[in-house]
Amino acid sequence: MENLIKNIDIINPEEQEACEVVKISKDQNTGKNRKLYIESYGCQMNFSDSEIVTSIMEKEGFDTTSDFNDADVIFLNTCSIREKAEQTVRNRLNHFNKVKKEKPALTVGVLGCMAERLKTKLLEEEKIVDLVAGPDSYRDLPNLVKEVDNGEKAVNTFLSREETYADISPVRLNSNGITAFISIMRGCDNMCSFCVVPFTRGRERSRDPHSIVNEARDLFQQGYREVTLLGQNVDSYKWSSNQDLKGKAQIERAGETNVVNFANLLEMVAKVDPLLRVRFSTSHPKDITDEVLHTMKKYENICKYIHLPVQSGNSRVLELMNRTYDRAWYLNRVEAIRNILGEACGISSDMITGFCTETEDEHQDTLSLMDLVKYDFSYMFFYSERPGTLAAKKYQDDIPLETKKRRLQEIIDRQQAHSLERNQKDLNKVHEVLIEGYSKRSKEHLQGRNTANKVVIFPKGKFKKGDYVNVMVNDCSAATLFGEVVV
Ligand code: SAH
Ligand code: SF4
Ligand code: F3S
Repeated sequence: MENLIKNIDIINPEEQEACEVVKISKDQNTGKNRKLYIESYGCQMNFSDSEIVTSIMEKEGFDTTSDFNDADVIFLNTCSIREKAEQTVRNRLNHFNKVKKEKPALTVGVLGCMAERLKTKLLEEEKIVDLVAGPDSYRDLPNLVKEVDNGEKAVNTFLSREETYADISPVRLNSNGITAFISIMRGCDNMCSFCVVPFTRGRERSRDPHSIVNEARDLFQQGYREVTLLGQNVDSYKWSSNQDLKGKAQIERAGETNVVNFANLLEMVAKVDPLLRVRFSTSHPKDITDEVLHTMKKYENICKYIHLPVQSGNSRVLELMNRTYDRAWYLNRVEAIRNILGEACGISSDMITGFCTETEDEHQDTLSLMDLVKYDFSYMFFYSERPGTLAAKKYQDDIPLETKKRRLQEIIDRQQAHSLERNQKDLNKVHEVLIEGYSKRSKEHLQGRNTANKVVIFPKGKFKKGDYVNVMVNDCSAATLFGEVVV
């Protein structure tokens, strides 16, 4: 059965807040005696973690199902990034409460960021929950499930400094068989004042590059043609060959230490095969280096697309946000991208409106920065205060909701105009597209993306997913390019 992915097109602010993307486990029937249903919310890291969780649970005798009515165990892999994301999960738990009344043996577990943030409080607040497991405790899930089988409640929210799940082969839950995500690091050390992630995901740590390259190679051999390297801040990826040595041994072997930074890692993955596309997300404006940009230029299979969240176009607000760059620094990084990789390189952003004390003029600075950069695409949000963050402790959430929403609508409108303008620049040009499957609207059309991450739709002809084709683009909307294959 196809994976169920709800809500992709984000148009108005109400909708954007109302529906976080949800991914649901697919049916896998290998005759195991118990069934697991996982629903995942939030970012790609969470979706990628659900694939690790499935791998761990498979070894414990679980098949996956896409129908929670068939499940012995239900896991919700949750997100805490905005209040609305947590509310969605609570509503979902209410729904599962009814299911559990009919089937008392059902185990309901909450995993991920909300589990980490609320810990045992979640058991008190949501009586239906049997199991709570934070992002670094998934190896312990088999034991936690056993505890629940024995009639206890089970909790593990220990955050690790080392766990990267490097040795676990993810079960590709949400896969089209062509594109896959590879987690290269976990956690975040940045402490942006609005953000809950450092509290829910713990300290930053990088995964062994050899295990990353091996995973990419395996995927290529299985027919995959694109990998996206994932981390909250990929530019601070750093691995040293002696990082697992302790004390004296570390000092003694310092001379033979091999250090791998993100540019090195990109190169290592790009060399797996020229037919394997490489993408990555997310880049932090304070850390993205010219070395990374030059590596992108050197390898054709590294896609020319950068997600470079700005959050605000005003330097005072950026300082309050603790982003550690200002407007001028950000614009300088965009200039470097344009100089090294050219005008056609895709750039996207995340933005927050109505952060604490943001004035009307400061909001205008975000709009004017957008006019300068002309993003291809943006994820836009209004500020949602998160308990425990620096902003919650230090600043007042003083912008009225209506103002936050009105400002959000203004940046969304501006972005729509820019997306259309950027797409119009792609008209009457030939784009190399990796085909990912049928277009959402018709089985007569295929869709894929060009190097700049833009969706391209064209008549299917004799082509199939996994093929690279050259498409002459002759029409566009703000979201999509349309064209025909040329030879
Ligand atoms: N590591 C990434 C961001 C991960 S969270 C980075 O630094 O860019 C994804 C996005 O959610 C953020 O970029 C931000 O725009 C938004 N976000 C995070 N916390 C938020 C909050 N409290 N309210 C509204 N939006 C928030
Ligand atoms: Fe959150 Fe900032 Fe880390 Fe991104 S870099 S995850 S916004 S703390
Ligand atoms: Fe949400 Fe956690 Fe990702 S808070 S955005 S699922 S890291």
